[in-house]
Amino acid sequence: MKALEPIVVSLIDRSYDIEVGAWTLDGIGERLAALTPSRRVGLVTQPPIDRYYGSRVEAALAGAGFSVVKLVFPDGEDHKNLEEFGRLLEALADARLERSSLLIALGGGVVGDLTGFVAASYLRGIDVVQVPTTLLAQVDSSIGGKTGVNLASGKNLVGAFHQPRLVLADIETLTSLDEREYRAGLAEVVKYGMILSPELFESIERGAAAIVARDPEILGEVIHRCAESKARVVMEDEREGGLRAILNFGHTLGHAIEAVTGYRRFLHGEAVGIGMVFAARLSTQYAGFPKPDVDRLKSLLETFGLPTEIPAELDPSDLARAAETDKKRQADRVKFICVEAVGRTRFEMLATEEIEAAVRTA
Ligand code: GLY
Repeated sequence: MKALEPIVVSLIDRSYDIEVGAWTLDGIGERLAALTPSRRVGLVTQPPIDRYYGSRVEAALAGAGFSVVKLVFPDGEDHKNLEEFGRLLEALADARLERSSLLIALGGGVVGDLTGFVAASYLRGIDVVQVPTTLLAQVDSSIGGKTGVNLASGKNLVGAFHQPRLVLADIETLTSLDEREYRAGLAEVVKYGMILSPELFESIERGAAAIVARDPEILGEVIHRCAESKARVVMEDEREGGLRAILNFGHTLGHAIEAVTGYRRFLHGEAVGIGMVFAARLSTQYAGFPKPDVDRLKSLLETFGLPTEIPAELDPSDLARAAETDKKRQADRVKFICVEAVGRTRFEMLATEEIEAAVRTA
């Protein structure tokens, strides 16, 4: 795979690089040695990732003179909670990690979000390096500093903005990713084209077969372009005062579908796929989005094996109510992200009844 330029996320004193490459895990020790004078790191991961990559990362770190405290917490979104957060903090304290020590989040979105939040809190904040190993984490959750855990009453309801010192995305780690997880991650890839770039959308359409086949060349380029898109949004609106909310295109209904199906039936990206088609259809009504482009979106998602229609048995009023409790709510309206054209967004403040009516006719 050809070398890709590091992407610089410029945030004054919190600037960092995103490095997209292949087989870069083996160089992590040297890369971190150049980043920090400390030689103590906490490596946080989950069992399946640990089995695949744990010893490689530990060896690379040891080779560069790091002493590693490895913390493995159980697999699954269920463990992105306050109990696990507390356990990890206690383990860091037991291991006497210091203010200058650094945490490495090796894994998907759950590992990144939880480890980032632990890093934001331990000793009032230590450095974290994100090493995302899923497509979703490489193009989205590892970038931009959103960290946190779920509460019983909802996902990501507690957390902090804590930018990483580095994001190291090794696309070779995607070879071990389960097919369904991989395809679900492609929903977020499509999202960047829809919200920011008609050229990116077209290149995803053109390269769809190679993307499905996980061709490293095209995958590297696509991930790099998505990461660059996310970086641009974060640089403009780090704390989600406005623009950053466009990254939630398709997520209002997507989150609602996940919630009403108990987070068991759909992976996040699958629900977002359905949510994006819904948002695009709704945009034909509210934002002049061309109908043929709804079909383009739907057919691209179908090529990636993703669901695109709201399951008939889900109750429209339940979905509209669940959409209303989304964090993007203001007064009695939901801030809904519409598209005017592929690559151009606009916000519409919609009432629950309007969302429900759109679900009924979707
Ligand atoms: N995943 C949405 C964001 O980072 O803002």
